[in-house]
Amino acid sequence: MGVLDFDELRRKPVEELTHEEAEKEVDRLIKEIREHDYHYYVENAPIITDAEYDALRRRLEAIEARFPDLLRPDSPSLRVGAPPAEGFRKVRHAVPMLSLSNAFEPQDVHDWERRIRRFLGLSEDEKIEYTAEPKFDGLSISLRYEKGELVLAATRGDGYEGEDVTANARTVKDIPQRIEAEDFPEVFEIRGEVYMPISAFMKLNEEQQKKGEKPFANPRNAAAGSLRQLDPKVTAQRPLRFFAWGHGEASEMPARTEWELYEYYRRWGVPVSDLIELHDNVEALIDYHARMLERRPDLDYDIDGVVYKVNRFDWQERLGFVQRAPRWAIAHKFPAHRGITVLKDIQIHVGRTGALTPVGILEPVNIGGVIVSRVSLHNEDYIKGIGADGRPIRGGKDIRIGDTVVVERAGDVIPQIVDVILEKRPPDAKPYEFPTRCPVCGSKAVREFNPRTGKLDAVRRCTGGLYCPAQVVERLKHFVSKRAFDIEGLGEKAIEQFFDHKFIRTPADIFTLEEREKKGEICIRCLPGWGEKKVQKLFEAINARRRISLDRFIYALGIRHVGEVTSRLLARHFRTIENFLQAGREIARDKNSEAAREIDNIDGLGPVVVEALHNFFNEEHNWQVIEALLEEVTVEPEEVPAEESPLAGKTVVFTGALKTMTRDEAKDLVERLGGHAANSVSRKTDLVVAGPGAGSKLRKAQELGIRIIDEEEFLRLVGLKPQAAE
Ligand code: IVH
Repeated sequence: MGVLDFDELRRKPVEELTHEEAEKEVDRLIKEIREHDYHYYVENAPIITDAEYDALRRRLEAIEARFPDLLRPDSPSLRVGAPPAEGFRKVRHAVPMLSLSNAFEPQDVHDWERRIRRFLGLSEDEKIEYTAEPKFDGLSISLRYEKGELVLAATRGDGYEGEDVTANARTVKDIPQRIEAEDFPEVFEIRGEVYMPISAFMKLNEEQQKKGEKPFANPRNAAAGSLRQLDPKVTAQRPLRFFAWGHGEASEMPARTEWELYEYYRRWGVPVSDLIELHDNVEALIDYHARMLERRPDLDYDIDGVVYKVNRFDWQERLGFVQRAPRWAIAHKFPAHRGITVLKDIQIHVGRTGALTPVGILEPVNIGGVIVSRVSLHNEDYIKGIGADGRPIRGGKDIRIGDTVVVERAGDVIPQIVDVILEKRPPDAKPYEFPTRCPVCGSKAVREFNPRTGKLDAVRRCTGGLYCPAQVVERLKHFVSKRAFDIEGLGEKAIEQFFDHKFIRTPADIFTLEEREKKGEICIRCLPGWGEKKVQKLFEAINARRRISLDRFIYALGIRHVGEVTSRLLARHFRTIENFLQAGREIARDKNSEAAREIDNIDGLGPVVVEALHNFFNEEHNWQVIEALLEEVTVEPEEVPAEESPLAGKTVVFTGALKTMTRDEAKDLVERLGGHAANSVSRKTDLVVAGPGAGSKLRKAQELGIRIIDEEEFLRLVGLKPQAAE
């Protein structure tokens, strides 16, 4: 047999390994496990999933079981975890803090019970009671009480020797400093898990990022990092909690069972989970596992499985330990909900409203039984990890194509990238360049400025809505809707049908349907639900809309932030389509042009509309759509109200104080009389009403030679004051 290369060797089943190969594998596995222990315990930043780590350990143990001579004294299978880090006093555990064996399938739990029965010599019908409890995903700690006083808190370390973190543990409010109960033993070690609630973890990470510090990968790492702070003052500020799950050394044992001990704990003021249950058969344990898996998303702390323990302490004692785990307990793990894989590509999806959404394409990875090959990347700031203001954003990652990423799948939520493993970033990986053009239609894609927040919108949008295939169906529906072109017989369903059959692509196509039907280029009457009569009626309805008012026309274009009211204001101001388009051309070129200022001046409109118009008219495709449409329809000029109104079509500016009405009332009056009230004086102003205190506007009006009148004259002009008999 030829020499196996590295990858082949690591995949070869243990039973098929030769002694020589097994030796190589042991060497490799020990090195890898050590490296991962270091990432996990020292850096608090694992780079593989727990499941992958477990697989490494299981393979090593299997090889050692098959070739006992390869069990090296330094093998990680003889230890649990990493040696304590420098900085804390090392302490030996009076009773070792060992680990748990894992069950993944119900069968593993049945097998476990069978072993227990065999070991204890119990018959099939003898009941065994078990506690079933959550497996808290935190950091195990042993709390030593002497005469009711907390004297030592130690981390697990390698199981035999941990770190003295007493000063830090004293800052955790759940951990009693003193236990006063009469029945509390002389010496007693309470063991349990220090954890950080998920809500607190999110808040902490937010703060870490604000401070420009690296966020924690998950609540467990945050808890570990917090408890192992050299300065207890820092630990005190971290919201750590504690649940007890067992005991260590005890001068005497008040309880005969695990369940009873938990009852003592509760009485002594030691936090115990209220999710712990007592059962006497494996089926009930498996049902507990299923129920906890369901509850997991609602808990404010991470659990990575459940733990079953033989309830009776005397049986626990007889069962004892094998290697590094007790025979009397087992962890029934949940399927991993994280996986590590490579981000192969970033694709941009264009939604029906034009939002460009980045989607990460992954090397498919099995996460808890589901193959995940896509993740949402939210928006461009999230990918960059930097906000539009140049500051790091919460949850942002600097994600690059080629990166090795940690993916999490939680419940029904779309999988997310929760971490990027920078150690594995290819040297040539470049920051991702988010497209500034729509990948579907090539139109410009822009981020709007939000004047309320003073920031750019997180979302980039395609500006070619009426042209872009990704959006056009929605836009066409809007175009024909009641308050826009209002074409009877052309509802949403018909639009979809016609679009699917490629009868219409843009609004102008609606107006050529009849001609194309007559020429035989298309056949509407061949479509299901369309009879001769109905088609004829549709053509009539379409033709009836070949003349359209300016406000409806503007509204139908579906420009962002230009709804019905804004369309009416624009129409009333510009009067004709030519004027409106002329302004559009100017705004497209320059957001600060005279036309832009003119619109900004229209009461009720502002910079948001100006920017929306700029983005719309700055896209060449939109002009194509409008021009094609104007070949088919005539836009009627806005009607000038009653001829006799002296203000019809006039732009009026008020400046200085008014005596008989408020400024708003005056403006209202102008609008009602068909005029337009503006805020500032320009060449387009027809009339300035100046009162006491008028300043720069008055001067500008004088400079421009605009007609200036006072309040009295204004009142006379609008018929509110009789003409003076002069
Ligand atoms: S019992 C002899 N019960 O899981 C060890 N452990 O993988 C007995 N853990 O070191 C452990 N929740 O840190 C037990 N309800 C629970 C637990 C629990 C979390 C942790 C603990 C232990 C590790 C074993």
